[in-house]
Amino acid sequence: MRIVRTVAEARAARASLGRLGFVPTMGALHAGHMSLVALAAERCDAVAASIFVNPTQFAPHEDLATYPRPIEADLAKLEAADVALVFLPAPETIYPNGFDTRIEVGAIADRLEGAVRPGHFSGVATVVAKLFHIMGPDIAFFGQKDVQQARVIMQLVRDLDFPVEIAIGPTIREPDGLALSSRNVYLSAAERAEAPALHRGLRAAEEAYAAGTRDAATLRHLIEAPIRRTSGMIDYVSIADPDTLEEVEAIGHRGAVVSLAVRFGTTRLLDNVILG
Ligand code: PAJ
Repeated sequence: MRIVRTVAEARAARASLGRLGFVPTMGALHAGHMSLVALAAERCDAVAASIFVNPTQFAPHEDLATYPRPIEADLAKLEAADVALVFLPAPETIYPNGFDTRIEVGAIADRLEGAVRPGHFSGVATVVAKLFHIMGPDIAFFGQKDVQQARVIMQLVRDLDFPVEIAIGPTIREPDGLALSSRNVYLSAAERAEAPALHRGLRAAEEAYAAGTRDAATLRHLIEAPIRRTSGMIDYVSIADPDTLEEVEAIGHRGAVVSLAVRFGTTRLLDNVILG
C-alpha cells in the first residue's frame, strides 16, 4: 500500500493503477467505510482511499478539533483490505495560503442538512472536486448513510462534467440498527442505548409504506413516536422527492427518501431509508 501526502505524489502513483475505485473519507474508519472499499475492489482493478478531515465543511462551533483521528488503526484497516493507494494530505496541501475558490451548490444543498449547516455542502463539494482532480478515479463510492451528500456529489459530477461514475453503497448498521458513524463514539452509554430509536422509527415507516400508507404526515408521526420516547431532540424528519429532496405531502410513483437528524446532547445522528 502506497501512502502519499502531496498532490504530485498522488498523481504519479495513480498513473500506474488501472481502472481505479476511490473512497474519500475523513478517517475513523468503521465497517461502513470498509463496505465501500469492498464494493470498489469488486468493481475496479485497484482501490484508492483518502483520509482528510476537511475543515471547510465544519462550522466554527462544530467538532473539527475533536473529530477522531486514529490514523494508525485506519491505515491498518486499509492495508488489510488490499487498498493500493492512500492519500493523506495536510490541511495546507489542500488549502494552501491564498486558496480562494469554493464550489457553490444549488437548491439541493439548501434543504435538510444544508439548512441546519449553512456552507457545509459547499465545503464538501469543493474538497470532493479537488480529490477527484487529484486522484482521477473511474468510479467514486459514497454511502447512502449520507444520502443528501451523495445527491450533492451526483449533481456536482453531472453539472461540471467530471468523468467519474458515482456509486452508492447501502448503510451498514450495528446489530441493534444504529447506523455506523465515526461520531457514535461521542454518545454516552445512556444515549447509545436510546439511539436505535432512529432506525425503529424508519422501520415503522417502511412497514406502513409496504402496507399502503402514502401520506407523509402519517408516516412522519410513526417515525417520530419512538424517538419522542428518548432524550433525543429531532432536528427534522423529512419525506422528500428522491431527486430534488423537496418535501412531498404524499408519496407518488417515484417513491421517497425518508431522512432524519436527531440530537443526543451535542451529537447529531443521521439516518434514512428509501421507500419505493
Ligand atoms: P465520512 O463521514 O468519513 O464518510 C466517508 C464515506 O463513508 C461517505 O460516503 C459516507 O456516506 C460513508 N459512510 C459513513 N457511514 C456509513 C455507513 N454506516 N454505511 C455505509 N457508508 C457509510 O462523508 C465524508 O466522510 C466527507 O463528507 C467526505 C465525502 C470524505 C468529504 O470530506
